Amino acid sequence: MKILKTIDELQSIRKDITSNVGFVPTMGALHDGHISLIKKSRKENDIVIVSIFVNPTQFLAGEDLDAYPRKDAADIKICEMCKVDYLFMPEISTMYAKEEIILKAPNKSYVLEGKTRPGHFDGVLQVVLKLFGITQPTNAYFGKKDAQQLSLISQMVKDFFLPINIIACEIVRESDGLALSSRNIYLDETQRKDSLLISKSLYAAATLIAKDERDTKVIKEKINEVMKTLELEYVAIVDREFNELENIEIDNTIILVVAKFGNTRLLDNIWL
Ligand code: PAF
Repeated sequence: MKILKTIDELQSIRKDITSNVGFVPTMGALHDGHISLIKKSRKENDIVIVSIFVNPTQFLAGEDLDAYPRKDAADIKICEMCKVDYLFMPEISTMYAKEEIILKAPNKSYVLEGKTRPGHFDGVLQVVLKLFGITQPTNAYFGKKDAQQLSLISQMVKDFFLPINIIACEIVRESDGLALSSRNIYLDETQRKDSLLISKSLYAAATLIAKDERDTKVIKEKINEVMKTLELEYVAIVDREFNELENIEIDNTIILVVAKFGNTRLLDNIWL
């Protein structure tokens, strides 16, 4: 595996690659969720590029940019074990110019995650577009846990006619149901225990749907009931384009929840 720190290095290697390139963009602190993306990419492509870049433009003032877990040595080992070909770890100064064209995410990026974190998705799209420009992947891999991010990146690829396949990958969970996230390490013991109510509430919703309940109000009530002891930030039931649904549409519904544990926000969702 080669570690590349500059855009020039990566671009000069990329121009000689004529076979399929799989790309997994990350902010590091790699866990089994990332590993599943990298493994899928390894299976489906000749060349695998992973990036690790804690992107400052997607953090709002007062968020955890400085505290965001950085585990470069462990991440490098993981990428080596997963047989990554190129690990791209750029510096902030090489990724951003002083004054540059800014991408503006569409209005639907200002609901749900974007309502709590206005501007977050502008930063995500900005950096992902840059990373796509540098790596020019055939296939790019994203987790379904960040469902709104995945939807917006898919739209960006369509809107800008980028010849890239966006591959949506399943959420990876701890054996007790908690969705993996780099931010899980912020939880203390009690919060970690309580966090199980998040996936429990989604399983309860899935059970209701399996029993033919289609009214999203009833399903939201059930989720609220299971999570009543938590600080619930939102429950939303949307279609794949992120329009709110009154009735469940099988094969076109995502149920999303976000709960807060102190300063830590945990997201989870299920896709029907
Ligand atoms: O999902 C993430 O880790 C980040 O938002 C991404 C896509 C790597 C962009 O910084």
